[in-house]
Amino acid sequence: MTKADVQEKLEDIFSRYKGERQELIPILQETQAKFRYLPAVAMREISRFLQIPDSSVYGVSTFYAQFKLTPLGKKVIRVCRGTACHVRGSAKVLAEIEKQLGIKAGETTEDMEYTLETVACIGACALAPTMTIDNETYGKMTTKKVAEVLGDSSKAG
Ligand code: FES
Repeated sequence: MTKADVQEKLEDIFSRYKGERQELIPILQETQAKFRYLPAVAMREISRFLQIPDSSVYGVSTFYAQFKLTPLGKKVIRVCRGTACHVRGSAKVLAEIEKQLGIKAGETTEDMEYTLETVACIGACALAPTMTIDNETYGKMTTKKVAEVLGDSSKAG
């Protein structure tokens, strides 16, 4: 993605705003929805558009967990660490995924295939321990099922 591509997409977003300071969060949200993270060049353009310092844009982006400053992998794995999943062994499932992908929670594989995250309850406690890969939910996870689930998702993608 070139700087020109980023600029074109941003101009489209900016066209819906007045350029006022209080629009920062919605603009960051739209930018992230477009690029799946907040590229540095986009943050500079946003600071120019809103006439606020780069450091303010950066400060807000790092304050809220919803904003990502590094690109996500093609697939995002989320392992539930809510209470019901925790008592049924989610930590072991997470450790097995970390081992198989060679990354820790919060990281992305070098080939940009997977990003691994943990989340609070996803609302499927009856199926604990649970995990999701993009919009697909996998329940009653075990360390043995990890390879199967990762294999399925790579076939699907
Ligand atoms: S605690 Fe994991 S789905 Fe509710």
